Amino acid sequence: MSVHAELKRVTIPEIKATKGPGKLVMLTAYTKPMAQQLDPHCDILLVGDSLGMVVYGMESTLAVTLDMMINHTKAVVRGAKHACVILDMPFGSYQESHAQAYRNCARALAESGAQGVKLEGGIEMADTIKFVTDRGIPVMGHIGLMPTHVNAMGGFKAQGKEEEAMKKWIGVAQAVEAAGAFSMVIEGTVEPVARAITEAVKIPTIGIGASPACDGQVLVTEDILGLFSDFTPKFAKRYANLGELVSKAASEYSQEVRAGTFPAAEHCFGVKK
Ligand code: KIV
Repeated sequence: MSVHAELKRVTIPEIKATKGPGKLVMLTAYTKPMAQQLDPHCDILLVGDSLGMVVYGMESTLAVTLDMMINHTKAVVRGAKHACVILDMPFGSYQESHAQAYRNCARALAESGAQGVKLEGGIEMADTIKFVTDRGIPVMGHIGLMPTHVNAMGGFKAQGKEEEAMKKWIGVAQAVEAAGAFSMVIEGTVEPVARAITEAVKIPTIGIGASPACDGQVLVTEDILGLFSDFTPKFAKRYANLGELVSKAASEYSQEVRAGTFPAAEHCFGVKK
């Protein structure tokens, strides 16, 4: 999908129809200014629940609330004119019952202005995905390593390394597709598994730490910009080191303030340059 196409928002049916290696570009965004920068280059902006760790410094994504997700998504929608915006449903907001899932997904879309939601889960979530998609809520699935299952998995561990696991994940992906998902994230698996899943489903797969054998890729923006230093996943290439630039700018400002040389006259109100 061309990023240089006329500036109209990418739709869910357009994403669903985009199958083929390297076709979909997705990055996370949590704020309006970041969304404005990323928007022309991305098909999808994901307001990921990773914001709990990246923005709020939490140890996992588990304590992220639906209110947090809605507020950040509103900001991203205000900054994005082209990309499709997807809201990541947080832990505990959709797993309890179909009614809870529908109520919260509907609220998420209505209040935030996002075009779709992302739900983590495999075969056990398929009937929930079906329930909400049948009622008009576009769902992006998320299989493989599922960060909200961090306790159950005993940490953030790669999934699907063995032959047996490969069969399992193909079955999971097909169940998510049959339930009506318009695309799915595959996280933390090896290339043969990602390739087999991508070939086994007609909807686009979007990989993160899952090899180039997917129809698209997603990364956490702060990882590729060098703005998140708690840890850097090895699959996240760093394209810039903005952390260093921020630190340098803050240091220069602090030196000028302490030396009494800030603000210079041209930066004062009422002074003509
Ligand atoms: O929360 C998130 O940012 C995600 C992506 C990394 C896929 O789920």
